[in-house]
Amino acid sequence: MRTVAVMNYKGGVGKTTLTANLGAIAARRGMRVLLIDLDPQTNLTFSFFSIDEWQDAIKDSCTIKQWYEGDMPGRDISLSDLTLTPERVNRALRGTGRLDVISSHLGLIDIDLQLAALLGGNTTLGGAQRKFLDLHGCLRRALEDDHFDQYDLVLIDCAPNFGLVTKTAIVASQHILVPAKADYLSTLGLDYLVGNCAMLVDQFNEFVNHRGLDAHRPIDPAILGVVFTMVQIYSQQVIGAQQTYVEEVEVNSQVSVLKSKIRNSPRHFSGAGESGIPAMLGARDEDDVVKEFAALADEVFGALALSPAGES
Ligand SMILES: Nc1ncnc2c1ncn2[C@@H]1O[C@H](COP(=O)(O)OP(=O)(O)OP(=O)(O)O)[C@@H](O)[C@H]1O
Ligand SMILES: [Mg+2]
Repeated sequence: MRTVAVMNYKGGVGKTTLTANLGAIAARRGMRVLLIDLDPQTNLTFSFFSIDEWQDAIKDSCTIKQWYEGDMPGRDISLSDLTLTPERVNRALRGTGRLDVISSHLGLIDIDLQLAALLGGNTTLGGAQRKFLDLHGCLRRALEDDHFDQYDLVLIDCAPNFGLVTKTAIVASQHILVPAKADYLSTLGLDYLVGNCAMLVDQFNEFVNHRGLDAHRPIDPAILGVVFTMVQIYSQQVIGAQQTYVEEVEVNSQVSVLKSKIRNSPRHFSGAGESGIPAMLGARDEDDVVKEFAALADEVFGALALSPAGES
């Protein structure tokens, strides 16, 4: 199982679109995929479930909010009980792959504050370090349950922030994928983001080493790189104004840039969610954006050493 956090502080850069479509492509290629929605906006959730399905059967008992709630995430409810198999997308897979989803909830917005309060609740140094590790490591430990061995790939769609819930995703992931737009504001914060991830990793590992706790092991998530999304293409090339920002990141940033880029294609993505099937499963193979997503899947799954047949 490979776990990848899809994250960027910047909103609207294509995180959810990337998570849904990359996950669907992996499942179409025969992999067993789990998508976890960690964003209170619930956009990933509603890319697969209708509002009615969510309200009738999911909202009250079966979302990640219920899991994070309480004294310690996962104490009252098991993460494995939250994995749901959305019907429409799985019908569209037509193969041996499967796509499961752990749903989010708008109430997740309050959880960061609750978790921060828990983190501050212990005043002894040892107790505070233990609490830090237990809270930040909660999702990682939950995903170590045997139930999750069935999955080839877990993609976590993060909210556009660096709150505690997002940090639990980073600790749980072996890889981090950073979607970004090729513009000034989107590229500005990339080094800061990578720096903050590194600080979290250092702090987590320092506490692990200091405490020598059996329950936690050091972490070392690898930044897979930046994926430029919604780029404007003219004559088969990224337009000059955007290429400047791509090169700026390639040359001056600590973070690497993936070769594959995803073009802006409102025709494919503006109806996102309505059908319950990510756009890349329904579109024609010869569409440029479909080819780009396929190339991105090859690049990402290659870096993860996941074979297209799902035999990893
Ligand atoms: N390649 C694309 N071409 C055209 N529109 C796109 C593309 N990718 C995403 N979009 C659209 O851009 C908007 C933002 O995308 P998305 O929701 O995936 O971003 P996000 O980073 O998850 O946002 P947030 O930070 O709010 O969670 C959506 O309306 C989506 O349909
Ligand atoms: Mg999103």
